[in-house]
Amino acid sequence: MAIRIMVTITQAKKRDLSEVLGLLRKVGLPVKGVDDQLHNFFVAREKSDLKGCGGLEAYGNVGLIRSVAVDPPFQGQGLGHSIVRSLEALAAEKNLSEIYLLTETAETFFAELGYVTIHRDSANPDIKRSSEFASLCPASAACMKKTLR
Ligand SMILES: CC(C)(COP(=O)(O)OP(=O)(O)OC[C@H]1O[C@@H](n2cnc3c(N)ncnc32)[C@H](O)[C@@H]1OP(=O)(O)O)[C@@H](O)C(=O)NCCC(=O)NCCS
Repeated sequence: MAIRIMVTITQAKKRDLSEVLGLLRKVGLPVKGVDDQLHNFFVAREKSDLKGCGGLEAYGNVGLIRSVAVDPPFQGQGLGHSIVRSLEALAAEKNLSEIYLLTETAETFFAELGYVTIHRDSANPDIKRSSEFASLCPASAACMKKTLR
């Protein structure tokens, strides 16, 4: 999908933290642990305004995508897809073999990007120890996986 707004996607810096937390709260996603993982986040800005973000946590040789969010007025223009592609490029750079995620709201969005819904119990054991799996995301969330290599 071609992105239809002019945004720059870059790795997050410490100074991005409060805006990232604000965006996550706005779209109803958990913020716990984001400060520790901010170096693994991307931020999408149009001029100086934050329009989107997303993070990739690495556990052994597998990754966990979390906190993919686009500011509601800018949704539906391809930005979410671009953020996920940036996170996948980072995962490939880190030589990760699989990416997992949990979502209560965006299963169709991730399915379009090649993620497959799996039973949560069959996820990689390292990923299951992440706080997202252990406590942050409710049991009702869909668990999705994409194999990179
Ligand atoms: C999910 C989200 C990041 C998508 O961002 P976006 O910029 O709107 O996505 P894109 O424009 O790249 O993609 C739009 C496509 O995804 C689909 N899509 C977008 N959000 C969706 C959702 N919540 N559920 C299902 N499909 C969704 C759209 O139907 C559209 O498909 P189409 O082009 O075939 O019509 C955004 O809706 C969001 O911030 N949601 C709240 C936070 C969230 O649920 N994050 C995911 C959990 S990590």
